[in-house]
Amino acid sequence: MPRPRTYPTNAARQQAYRQRRRARHLQQYPCEQLGELVTLYCGDAHIIAPLLTGINALITDPPYGTQFDFTKHRRSRQPLQEGKPLEPRWTTNVTGDDRPFDPQPWLRYRQVILWGADCYYAPPPNSGSWLVWDKKVDGTSDDFSDGEMAWTNLPQPLRIHRQKWRGIIRAGEANVSHRGKLHPAEKPPELMRWCVRKTTGTVLDPYMGSGTTGVACVRLGRPFVGIEIERKYFDIACARIEEAFKQGTLFPPGVQPAKQEALW
Ligand SMILES: C[S@@+](CC[C@H](N)C(=O)[O-])C[C@H]1O[C@@H](n2cnc3c(N)ncnc32)[C@H](O)[C@@H]1O
Repeated sequence: MPRPRTYPTNAARQQAYRQRRRARHLQQYPCEQLGELVTLYCGDAHIIAPLLTGINALITDPPYGTQFDFTKHRRSRQPLQEGKPLEPRWTTNVTGDDRPFDPQPWLRYRQVILWGADCYYAPPPNSGSWLVWDKKVDGTSDDFSDGEMAWTNLPQPLRIHRQKWRGIIRAGEANVSHRGKLHPAEKPPELMRWCVRKTTGTVLDPYMGSGTTGVACVRLGRPFVGIEIERKYFDIACARIEEAFKQGTLFPPGVQPAKQEALW
């Protein structure tokens, strides 16, 4: 008697085989599944991301070769510390920040937002648009940069998010008087929420750091996949996203947040 066919076509059989192979490969990496919406992997994004399916949007803030030394002693301007150097807050620098970043592998996604793209060695395509984060707002220019830029393939004009972020002076939820810094290159949760709301479907952040994009997705009830190579930041991201789940989403399932484009 012929064996009953499990798959209607050869193509379906091959697809199922490829899916099983990808799943087996992914099992090698530490993975946290948080609720139904969030999957976090600890490992190299260049190996893990090609194994993933069902990603609709890429939103990320990759290391791009600033070579900034976060481990050096900082100079204090405060009279109380009499201008003495302060202890460095970080013992290691950002992994991957010692070399130029190639955006090419990440441009294949349907919706892309890449922070720092104005500084990449190989620039993103001429098509597309820019998002600007004004970090100075109404203050005067100082040693810090006045803003940061993200390249996007979303069909929209240049948009600006204004949120003060000058060293330890941080407007919004990440204000250091509420909690300490989680990552040397942490982004404001409000900025990443602004980005997530510009996209639809499942979001991938392959350089998730302390998980700010994931927190934004949880708040908006959006599926999220995050990848981080450093175990300590992976653990911080897991704890942070779990905490965001406990606090609940801003919008219950089925309720779409209103668009805020006019405000920004
Ligand atoms: C600029 S930080 C992202 C910070 C994040 N936006 C946040 O708010 O915390 C980039 C992160 O990418 C991670 N990283 C570098 N190379 C990686 C790779 N090949 N795969 C996965 N993560 C990587 C670094 O360890 C770092 O935490």
